[in-house]
Amino acid sequence: MKNYRRLLMYMRPYLGRLGLAVFCIIMASSANLYLPWIIKDMIDKVLTGGNMGTLNLIAISIVIVFAFRGFFYYWQSYLVSYIGQRVVADVREVMFRKFQRMPMAYFDKHQTGETMSYVTNDVAAVQSALVDNLIDLVTESAILIGSIALMLYINWKMTLVTLITVPMVGYAMKIFGRKIKRSGTLIQEKMADITSLLQESISSIRIVKSFVREEYEIQRFSVENNLNFDASMKNAKLTSLLTPTVEFLAAVGVTLIVWYGGYEVIHGAMTPGSLVAFLTYAVNLANPVKRLSRIYGKMQQAMAAIDRIFSVLDMDEPVNDKPDAKTLPKVRGHVAIDNVTFSYDGQHNALENVSFDVKPGQMIAFVGPSGAGKSTIANLIPRFYDVNDGTIKIDGVDIRDVTLKSLREQIGIVPQETLLFSTTVMENIRYGRLDATDDEVIAAAKAANADDFIKNLPNGYQTQIGERGLNLSGGQRQRMAIARAMLKNPQILILDEATSALDTESEKIVQSALDELMRGRTSFVIAHRLSTIFAADQIFVIDKGKICEHGTHQELLKLDGVYSHLYNIQFSNVRD
Ligand SMILES: Nc1ncnc2c1ncn2[C@@H]1O[C@H](COP(=O)(O)OP(=O)(O)OP(=O)(O)O)[C@@H](O)[C@H]1O
Ligand SMILES: [Mg+2]
Repeated sequence: MKNYRRLLMYMRPYLGRLGLAVFCIIMASSANLYLPWIIKDMIDKVLTGGNMGTLNLIAISIVIVFAFRGFFYYWQSYLVSYIGQRVVADVREVMFRKFQRMPMAYFDKHQTGETMSYVTNDVAAVQSALVDNLIDLVTESAILIGSIALMLYINWKMTLVTLITVPMVGYAMKIFGRKIKRSGTLIQEKMADITSLLQESISSIRIVKSFVREEYEIQRFSVENNLNFDASMKNAKLTSLLTPTVEFLAAVGVTLIVWYGGYEVIHGAMTPGSLVAFLTYAVNLANPVKRLSRIYGKMQQAMAAIDRIFSVLDMDEPVNDKPDAKTLPKVRGHVAIDNVTFSYDGQHNALENVSFDVKPGQMIAFVGPSGAGKSTIANLIPRFYDVNDGTIKIDGVDIRDVTLKSLREQIGIVPQETLLFSTTVMENIRYGRLDATDDEVIAAAKAANADDFIKNLPNGYQTQIGERGLNLSGGQRQRMAIARAMLKNPQILILDEATSALDTESEKIVQSALDELMRGRTSFVIAHRLSTIFAADQIFVIDKGKICEHGTHQELLKLDGVYSHLYNIQFSNVRD
């Protein structure tokens, strides 16, 4: 309930419209109350009294009432949809903002499909809770209250008899509601599983096909799909049972009233017209009660989605700006890592007591076996994660004391796998610096040796890139990434195996682009191929999260340790 109130806070900006909407709903629904009243006058005054004047009045009033009803109906639908869609759009945006701010650790732990399901399925559930339920809730409440008031006016004793059944119905609703909410949670969870599986399987379709795992994937999907079916059926069973139960209880009540009302008319305590009107209201009472119980079920289901939305919005953002975070001024590029220990999961240390000092403009290389912790160092410098122990300082400033924006703006990263957005080549490079002119973009592409191949694309710089850049080769994508970094013009560069996926020929082209990019900047280079790092000012050999050797290429060869061993393996055939 607390979360529901929080959701209602999102309606705050639209309170004026909401008030107007409620007014329109009440006006539109009160027309429903008018019909039984007409029946009363028809029986008592027109049919038995033969009053022609009343008949004419009734005829005119029906036309007028329904014209009014139409007018208010239009405005109720329009206003409620407006508020509902507005709130949903706002919530969606708040969630998207939240996900943009979430730390990398969140994305390590959660599948993309799960995150997408929050923003699509859960927000859609909120929409139906707000739009459909709000109209029904106010309409049915208005009819309920209006009917009871008119019934009390006609015959209060009979009204009391009628109302005895209401608490019974209420109790039944409460029991069902609790169960429906629980099964609603289950359905959403199963749906999220399906979405994850779908996302994973479709985006990895290349791998699926190359391993001929289609049947395996179908099998996996089928299992999840059936679990969702079971959960949905459990929910359907409950909601299907709810309506007949409530209706039966209502029917018992109606029987009581019919008998008692007939008794009153036979003994002259009530006119026949009043009885018919009363019965019409009483029977119609079942409708609002029934619909309200359905709304209750839907609300319970939506509550599960709302709870999930707020649990996402309430998640910690551990890596974030301190309240007094300063802007990091333009740095020279002196990076000092002091005794850093870091663990992704809180159990195994990915880095242990790592220390080194890099002077502005130096080129540093990391080598070592897979899983040693090289990429982890690269992740810590732009503060994708916070160190558990020790400090990282840039130009003498602890990176936790400055804003993430000012820190990351001065660091350029060329990753092993470049992701491109589905827009033009021009816009993809401009991602490095949004206010760059077309000429600056082209200059960056030239410096990255990318201009030649871009010009040969069907529409040059305006060529549309396919999803994730899949219609470009690995080397072309990497040169785009280098152009991006050129445009960003950062003082600190991180190249995580930027050339490892390339053949020797492409590597030469990309390497010369990289050499151009690294000039005058502090650069961290992670490489498996030692040939790319001979010129490094310092080489660090990392193993099991620790620095085990360091020095220049020549010094490390003389040391005759891990590095020279690696060197011998890679170059043995050259020397033989
Ligand atoms: N996001 C993550 N969550 C949890 N553990 C991780 C994560 N990334 C890496 N690790 C673990 O941290 C350790 C260091 O990984 P890291 O990626 O730094 O290795 P690496 O030296 O870059 O290896 P490679 O040469 O294969 O890229 C490994 O044991 C790895 O399993
Ligand atoms: Mg790595």
